[in-house]
Amino acid sequence: MLPNVLQPNATDHVPVLAHEVRASLAVRPGQTVVDATFGAGGHATLLAADLQGRGKLIAIDRDPTAHEYFDRFEKSARVSARLLRGDFGVVLEQLAENGVRADAILLDLGVSSMQLDRPDRGFSYSVDAPLDMRMDTTQDLTAREIVNEWPERELATIFRRYGEERYAKQIARAIGRRRKEEPFARTGELVDAIKAAIPAPARFGDGHPAKRVFQALRIAVNDELGSLEAALPAALEMLRPGGRLAVISFHSLEDRIVKQFLRDRERGCTCPPDFPVCICGHEPELRAIERRPIKPGEAEIAANPRAASARLRAAVKSGGDENGADA
Ligand SMILES: C[S@@+](CC[C@H](N)C(=O)[O-])C[C@H]1O[C@@H](n2cnc3c(N)ncnc32)[C@H](O)[C@@H]1O
Repeated sequence: MLPNVLQPNATDHVPVLAHEVRASLAVRPGQTVVDATFGAGGHATLLAADLQGRGKLIAIDRDPTAHEYFDRFEKSARVSARLLRGDFGVVLEQLAENGVRADAILLDLGVSSMQLDRPDRGFSYSVDAPLDMRMDTTQDLTAREIVNEWPERELATIFRRYGEERYAKQIARAIGRRRKEEPFARTGELVDAIKAAIPAPARFGDGHPAKRVFQALRIAVNDELGSLEAALPAALEMLRPGGRLAVISFHSLEDRIVKQFLRDRERGCTCPPDFPVCICGHEPELRAIERRPIKPGEAEIAANPRAASARLRAAVKSGGDENGADA
């Protein structure tokens, strides 16, 4: 029987790298935890359990439907919890500016299984649906606007940059031709245009032929990389000394941003390498917990194929003891 994809169900969501996230954040009773990508509350439920009835959980999500999951979560969480709806880049910055401090912050990036499985949201290339792809359904920009109105050159750039699509130019040109006759309205029309634009052998290669263009459009619609770049410094500012940050990314563009941020803030000294002594006096702001990203094991991938591309990076903010207590 096919799953009823229109009925959100908190139990059908499997949080990715659950054990590894818990180990990296090492949440203890009495702490304040921020789950900046609440989704269906899978990770939040585990982290709230680690608070053992004492502490606070702040949930953030830009998707207005997150409150359906949050209401259910709140009833069983046994800790003080609240949901803030908005872009985590903006909300974390506001919390930090208002002096709110946290001991653990999680970012589990990208779309949730529930968003992907709800055809009306237009994230999936396997179901015909309106061309939408907004995580925040109140924002103006949709995939439909990008596909129908952005110049071909810009389309080719995002397909190449955000989707690493080899046939970016050909696909952008095909979109340009087709939309002159009739604007795109549905995902199925876009999938057909992509398939027709790429050489036949490439249609049977690396996954679904529309996979990379859909990823690129989703990143552009939701400005996913811009939000991540804004969120990382705000999260670090919000953390108490010894507090921990964990980020799960699902493609190399995100992972590169996280890796570079951790590396820069871990380095401390910003003097040119040929200076004999440090004159900048900058101290390292954090310590990465592992050098390499943590990946899911075979068993997790077998149980949840969507976990395959997940990469977890985590760090401890400088200045506290390594267990998360203030110095
Ligand atoms: C991969 S899911 C998180 C799943 C969650 N960890 C769980 O266990 O249920 C990502 C969630 O983060 C939200 N999200 C993605 N980017 C966001 C952003 N910039 N600001 C706020 N929420 C965002 C999405 O709407 C989605 O619900």
